[in-house]
Amino acid sequence: MKSIKIKVWLTISCAIVVAESLIMLLFWLIPSIPPLIQTVIDVFLLTLVVVPLMYWLDSVQINKTAQALHASNQLLLGTQDQALSLLIALAAVRDDQTGQHLVRSRLFVRVLAERLKQMGHYLDELNDDFIKVLYKVAPLHDIGKVGVPDSILNKPARLEVDEWALMMTHAATGASILNAAKESFDADHGLIATAAKIAESHHEKWNGSGYPKGLKGLDIPLAARIMSLADMYDALTGERPYKAAWTHEQAIQEVIRMKGIAFDPIVVEAFLLEESNFKQISDDFRADS
Ligand SMILES: [Fe+2]
Repeated sequence: MKSIKIKVWLTISCAIVVAESLIMLLFWLIPSIPPLIQTVIDVFLLTLVVVPLMYWLDSVQINKTAQALHASNQLLLGTQDQALSLLIALAAVRDDQTGQHLVRSRLFVRVLAERLKQMGHYLDELNDDFIKVLYKVAPLHDIGKVGVPDSILNKPARLEVDEWALMMTHAATGASILNAAKESFDADHGLIATAAKIAESHHEKWNGSGYPKGLKGLDIPLAARIMSLADMYDALTGERPYKAAWTHEQAIQEVIRMKGIAFDPIVVEAFLLEESNFKQISDDFRADS
């Protein structure tokens, strides 16, 4: 940027020198012009040269800067998408099913976020960009499971207390991974930063009894409050080695029971208005269970 400014000023200086030399030559050829008129002509001709030149240089410079910014923004977004794809691939490897859970998760959170926006709740956060980001990063909510041993992750039975304690570390581990990635890849939209919030807080509960921090109510990031319900619904309606899949109706009753306990009551209201869409998504993407 500094070298561009120097070029601009050099161009203007050269133009002034050339223009002034031509004006002096004119006065030398016509010596009869009175000094006052010479000054007026001098200022007029110089203005005629310098103002259009500055205007032209300015517009050229603005265009060049805009193009450079656009190109660098595209490069950054491309790099960010690549980073996101890699992280999602990593999360999919440790997904306890076949990746369909990750697909359903992002669809569920988008349905909930759009309904909340329609209802007029949390509008200071819930804009279109936020919903796009939520959709993109939802599959990263359990990325911290890369730090959980296979023997626990794939155990075909309920976990013991110590195993459960280890499983719970996935929230903090996920946040650590994503916070580290955030420094390198985040642009203005805060993609990875949102992913880190979801990974860290998707097991927090509205009444403060969740983990890892025991956050309560609105202290839990909105993205995580939405993810929490989506994740729970998916877990309830999915089959596990230690339990049969619950029906959609049973899952609805459980979500209602957990309103104000595990879940943000407003997010539950949004879910109840969208429950048929949840069922549809669940039916469409449940090939794994
Ligand atoms: Fe989780």
